[in-house]
Amino acid sequence: MEKLIGVLPGDGIGPEIVDEAKKVLVAIEKKFNHKFTFTNGVIGAHAIDVCGNPFPDETLDLCMKSDAVLFGAIGHPKYDNDPAAKVRPEQGLLKMRKDLGLYANLRPVVAIPSLIDKSPLKNHLIEDVNFLVVRELTGGIYFGEPRGRSEDGRKAIDSCVYTVEEIERVAKKAFEFARIRKKKVTAVDKANVLATSRLWRETIQRMHKDYKDIELEFMFVDNAAMQIIQNPKGFDVIVTENMFGDILTDEASVITGSIGLLASASIGVHTSVYEPIHGSFPQAAGQNIANPVATILSAAMMLDYSFGLKKEAALIEEACEKSLIEGIVTNDLSKEKYYKTNEVGDWIANYINNN
Ligand code: IPM
Ligand code: MG
Repeated sequence: MEKLIGVLPGDGIGPEIVDEAKKVLVAIEKKFNHKFTFTNGVIGAHAIDVCGNPFPDETLDLCMKSDAVLFGAIGHPKYDNDPAAKVRPEQGLLKMRKDLGLYANLRPVVAIPSLIDKSPLKNHLIEDVNFLVVRELTGGIYFGEPRGRSEDGRKAIDSCVYTVEEIERVAKKAFEFARIRKKKVTAVDKANVLATSRLWRETIQRMHKDYKDIELEFMFVDNAAMQIIQNPKGFDVIVTENMFGDILTDEASVITGSIGLLASASIGVHTSVYEPIHGSFPQAAGQNIANPVATILSAAMMLDYSFGLKKEAALIEEACEKSLIEGIVTNDLSKEKYYKTNEVGDWIANYINNN
């Protein structure tokens, strides 16, 4: 199989973790006789430095002509500490999501047996946890108009806006994933307060008529935040709006023991983007200490979802799991014996070569 892969390393630890994922994809390419052509593009703070624009047209073109995009991370403390900055790295990520129409962000949360003791949560609560968060990604408070500052600078506004169509297309994905999983959808909202949430509820209730085989429950987001910790086994597919999904998936990463393990796929109208859920971890940038596994697992999702290469994806997952069992892990997962970012990548690529 011949595929064009756009690579957007971005900021902070992005370049290092993306290098390891590429290394693993090259191992897969060799073993299974595929041809992957990688082309790099700029995004985020790095792109602002290079061309003054966090998502230049060349990067959009690259995404559009690629068969899939591998993305690292975005963000730089220089902007976090300067709320007045006119251009921000995150705008690049948001524009990419919007321009590519990536309305569904799939974030699997799976407890890994070998890491069960790394989670601060009790073993019996998290054993066998396996749920999928379907986060709406191109609407809600991240994009709604009007937004911004008043002229005198003393008032700011962010609008949460959703249309029926936006809710339907992401909810459809959630129902379809539930059908091939444990047949349950939990729709998370704040319908006791927000008009947008009531529209979500109404729309999803109506759609449920076509998905009678799926159990549907509604949950308020504050309660969901608690249930993810107290009873995570109760979930199969969670569907929710953009910001709730952002917050709940960082929380859910605690179940796996490290946010450095959670992969994601952003799918929709144009080319899909595969990205770890974690940020750019600027304190670790350039030090070769970041955990590359979330990005490597995102590459596995790419092979599976975009290219239909299930065997290849399964081998990457197996290699990652073995690396965790063998203790070939970065510092976030072991304080005693730990490995460098590139050593973990090498180990995983070697496992693929030899199995
Ligand atoms: C994520 C990130 C982004 C988001 C940031 C970097 C804009 O937190 O992908 O979860 O909020 O969507
Ligand atoms: Mg986030």
